[in-house]
Amino acid sequence: MNSRLWLVVPAAGRGSRVSTTRPKQYLELAGRSIMQHTLSRLYYALPTAQLCLCLDDNDAHFDPNWVPFSHWRRASGGAERMDSVLNALLAIDSIADADDIVLVHDIARPCVLPVDLKRLLSAVQREPAGALLAAPVADTMKRDNGAGHVLRSEPRDGLWHALTPQGFRYALLRRALEQARARGRQVTDEASAVEALGLSPELVVGRRDNIKITHPEDLGLAAHILAAQRASDYSF
Ligand code: C5P
Repeated sequence: MNSRLWLVVPAAGRGSRVSTTRPKQYLELAGRSIMQHTLSRLYYALPTAQLCLCLDDNDAHFDPNWVPFSHWRRASGGAERMDSVLNALLAIDSIADADDIVLVHDIARPCVLPVDLKRLLSAVQREPAGALLAAPVADTMKRDNGAGHVLRSEPRDGLWHALTPQGFRYALLRRALEQARARGRQVTDEASAVEALGLSPELVVGRRDNIKITHPEDLGLAAHILAAQRASDYSF
C-alpha cells in the first residue's frame, strides 16, 4: 500500500447553535480549544498523514501553533460543508494521486479515539466504495407531522447514525462531490455523495462517545467524555 493518506478537516462552519460569540471550534473545552483537541487526537493516531484544514478566509481566531502535523496546508472554506471539503480536494489536485486515501473528519468531534481512527482506516484500505464510522440507532424513532406531534413511529432496525471520519479514495470522493454539486444536491456527509453514484460504503461500528458538538449542552457532555477517556486506558 503506497498510497498517501490525507486528512481533510472541515473547520469553516460557524456553529451558531452553540455560541454566537465565536465559531464552535474555538470554544474552550477542558483548557484547550475544540480545534486543538480534535487535531491532537488525529495526530496521535495518524502522525504521518497530510492535513488539509478548511478555514474561513476571514477567520480571526485560528492559531497555526495548534497544528501538530508537520505536513499541512490550509484550504478556503465554502458556503456549505461539502463546498469546504471539495475546496480541500481541489487544493491538493496537483499532488494527490487518484488512489490516495482521504479521511474527512469534523473539527467539532474532539472525542474521537485512535482505536476508531485506525479501524476506519483499515476498512478504507480494503473497501473500494469507502467506509464511515457509524453507530446503530438505539432510541425509538418518531416522524413528526410538521406541527410538533407524532405522525408515526419509524422502525429503527437497520438505521445508523453517520459519524466521522469517513474515508474514500481521492478520485472517487472528488467525483462524488463534483457530481453532487453539478446536480445541485446539498449533501451533509461524504458518504451520501458516494451513495448517489450507486456505491455502498462500509459501515464501521464506531464509539457512541464520538459526539459532534452541535448544541450548548454538548460542551459539558464532551468535557465528561474526555475526562472519562483519560481516566481509562487512553492517554493523549
Ligand atoms: O454545522 P455542522 O456541525 O454540521 O458542521 C460540520 C463540520 O463542517 C464542522 O466541522 C464545520 O466546521 C464544517 N463546515 C465547514 N464549512 C461550512 C460549514 C461547516 O467546513 N461551510
